[in-house]
Amino acid sequence: MAQEENQRIKQQYARIAGSYDLVDRLIPRNWRVKATQLAYGRVLEAGVGTGLNLPYYTDRCQEIVGIDLSLPMLKQAALRVPQCKVPVVLAEMDIQALDLASSSFDCVLVSFVFCTVADPLQGLRECLRVLRPGGRLILLEHMVSDHSWLRGAMDRLNPITVHLLGDHINRQTGTTISTAGFQIESSENLFGDVVRLIVARRLVAGC
Ligand SMILES: C[S@@+](CC[C@H](N)C(=O)[O-])C[C@H]1O[C@@H](n2cnc3c(N)ncnc32)[C@H](O)[C@@H]1O
Repeated sequence: MAQEENQRIKQQYARIAGSYDLVDRLIPRNWRVKATQLAYGRVLEAGVGTGLNLPYYTDRCQEIVGIDLSLPMLKQAALRVPQCKVPVVLAEMDIQALDLASSSFDCVLVSFVFCTVADPLQGLRECLRVLRPGGRLILLEHMVSDHSWLRGAMDRLNPITVHLLGDHINRQTGTTISTAGFQIESSENLFGDVVRLIVARRLVAGC
């Protein structure tokens, strides 16, 4: 099932990779700046897309490893690598099965990806695995509102956004982060409570 879904996602992003950056006009630049400024050390950006966050990482980062399921999106990201202040490595990879060593990253940053990933819980578990104990997850994402009237509307609209855009608008990603085993440190509402910047930690054993 996840394989079928991955194929569908790949086809979709192959179609839109060349024009994806138009979507970025809807996203305030300061959301990306805020998220990337929280990153430090060796950073995994999972679902790096066309690399729209790359220009904003600070020199507190040592290296950015950017992975994505879609090769055409990664090709666009490669064009942005010269705008990044720190070395970048790009690779085709599935967030649900990362071909990366456990405990090998200080931070994992994910922006607007878990609305698309077939199995977000599995993706978050993989993010947890590759983070070193004490490492930080930085998540910039839209998710379902906690307000019941808006949640109802999002539930009703979801089949349409999934059909048209492959985008799930009614996921409870905040809850899924905790279910995956992270400890949430902060959650900032950026657009109502629909777009949030969440910072979470992989706990150090015994803490
Ligand atoms: C909406 S775009 C976001 C791109 C970028 N993070 C941004 O902020 O603009 C979603 C991205 O997630 C990627 N993606 C979806 N499922 C994935 C998976 N299972 N593993 C890795 N990347 C995935 C897509 O290929 C696409 O590049």
